[in-house]
Amino acid sequence: MEIEPMAVSLRPFRISDADDFLSFAGDDRVTRFLRWKTLASREEALATIRDVCIPHPWRRAVCVGDRCIGFVSMWPGSGDDRCRADIGYGVAREWWGKGVATRAVRMALSQVFGDFPDVLRIQAFVGVDSKASQRVLEKAGFTRDGLLRKYAYLKGNLQDLYLYSFLSTDVVPAD
Ligand SMILES: CC(C)(COP(=O)(O)OP(=O)(O)OC[C@H]1O[C@@H](n2cnc3c(N)ncnc32)[C@H](O)[C@@H]1OP(=O)(O)O)[C@@H](O)C(=O)NCCC(=O)NCCS
Repeated sequence: MEIEPMAVSLRPFRISDADDFLSFAGDDRVTRFLRWKTLASREEALATIRDVCIPHPWRRAVCVGDRCIGFVSMWPGSGDDRCRADIGYGVAREWWGKGVATRAVRMALSQVFGDFPDVLRIQAFVGVDSKASQRVLEKAGFTRDGLLRKYAYLKGNLQDLYLYSFLSTDVVPAD
């Protein structure tokens, strides 16, 4: 059952999110398609929030109520790459299939175009096997630009990746 769209919100990470953060960043099923090492302890979760999530150029906790159940990140380019930002996201396993990631990506799009006026394109690199992620991007209005063959390693395995993009002039589909 899809979650009520208004129930999902984005906010900056807090140190107090450590237990919730560990519940998904410590889950191999969530980190499988991410470059993240699966976290093994509350101490690692605390250190990652303090040293990575809070200083990150743009990373938000995806929340239901005030509880952190996932993340969405953007990496804006600089210099001649300032026209674009890369997006990544993940949601705790117990929340999969309820529309949470699609809602979070849609919210992140409008916020990032507002926060970084030079950014005109948001792009995502997605493994060919990462079907749920491809579907999230399609539901959020991204266009598949093409297939990048043998483009990068993920956890030791060379990957074919799809490149998706969303332009500031594109329309975010309604819920
Ligand atoms: C990808 C991920 C973020 C999706 O989160 P979510 O909240 O379940 O996403 P949504 O519910 O908004 O949408 C998922 C869609 O994928 C579909 N889907 C799920 N598994 C699928 C599969 N194996 N094949 C095809 N479609 C699939 C769902 O049916 C749904 O589409 P629908 O609404 O048309 O039915 C979540 O699975 C996750 O955190 N995965 C691990 C991290 C990750 O892969 N991040 C992306 C890195 S590129």
